[in-house]
Amino acid sequence: MTRPARITVHLDHIIHNTQLARQLHGQKVLAVIKANAYGHGDQKVAQALSRYVDGFAVACLEEAVTLRQSGISQPIILLEGPFTSQEVKEYDHYQLTPVIHQREQWQWWQENNLSHPVWLKVDTGMHRLGFNHDDLIALINKNTQQPKSHIAVLMTHLANADTLDDEKIKEPLERFKRVVDQFNLKTSIANSAAIMLHPQARGDWARPGLMLYGVDPLARNAKDVGLKPAMTFSSQVIATRWIKAGESVGYGSLFTAQKPTRVATIACGYADGYPRSAPTNTPVWINGKVVPLIGRVSMDMITVDISAHDDIQIGSAVELWGENIAVAEIASRSGTLAYELLCHTQRPGREYSLSRVE
Ligand SMILES: Cc1ncc(COP(=O)(O)O)c(C=O)c1O
Repeated sequence: MTRPARITVHLDHIIHNTQLARQLHGQKVLAVIKANAYGHGDQKVAQALSRYVDGFAVACLEEAVTLRQSGISQPIILLEGPFTSQEVKEYDHYQLTPVIHQREQWQWWQENNLSHPVWLKVDTGMHRLGFNHDDLIALINKNTQQPKSHIAVLMTHLANADTLDDEKIKEPLERFKRVVDQFNLKTSIANSAAIMLHPQARGDWARPGLMLYGVDPLARNAKDVGLKPAMTFSSQVIATRWIKAGESVGYGSLFTAQKPTRVATIACGYADGYPRSAPTNTPVWINGKVVPLIGRVSMDMITVDISAHDDIQIGSAVELWGENIAVAEIASRSGTLAYELLCHTQRPGREYSLSRVE
């Protein structure tokens, strides 16, 4: 790729963050690597993590099969389970573990008489997926009388783990406990936010996603909470110019200079994954300085004000996010979340780095 827009994925940082998840939560770690490992590359991430985790979680059969075909032998959990009865045979063939959240899925599994373990999902208040208390108890009791499928884990997903307010997760945890207490089954509750903020939400399996990639669920500085950003989005300055007071920059002339302004144009736009909604003054790192974005983000370029920095020239190194600029900051300025930005970085050239893991 001749374009200087690049994604560098620091696999050693992902390993470091995974080890932090295990330290904080204890027990087993299921690395959530759906959506191409949140844009980081699922096969590379899975291979790097295979010695450090107990399993992987993905969103669909295709994601799981890709992992199996690249040699991943750990348990793979499919967080939404099968979407049709036809898929169930593939689960058997590739030895995949579904999260069963609907009666229909349970029937498909039973009809095929599969002995491979399943996870069952309990709805504790998110009201997207999962069985309610009574349905789940009836289902498990029926299964115990005529044992067919092996239920490995009871899981739930909290709607409000990314808050410091313990009260917001008290009721869902109690609801989950009311089910769990009746059966001697393993449990899984915590995503990244719960791992980092709510020790009372621990279970037998942690399910970290975002934190593996070095992003704090509360958008605090990664270093302050022991995380290392896994993705560096970089590029270069490809043009510089002075504009006069009263002249504008970019589509829609969104930014008009109040004084003579030196503008740098950077090869990176919304087609590379930089958010189009990033407003003027969003920070961009160039040559060790933080400079403000000006004007509208276009498909392949952004423009910044470098009036104060003579040393910035064509070819100067730019970081859009990474060690120096947090992806969470760009996300919050743009009215979105780091999750979305990380997932949308398919176009830039890509490299993987794996230095020594401490
Ligand atoms: C069921 C489930 N568990 C865990 C995760 C990981 O969440 P996070 O990336 O916030 O750690 C997700 C992500 O969406 C999920 O859907």
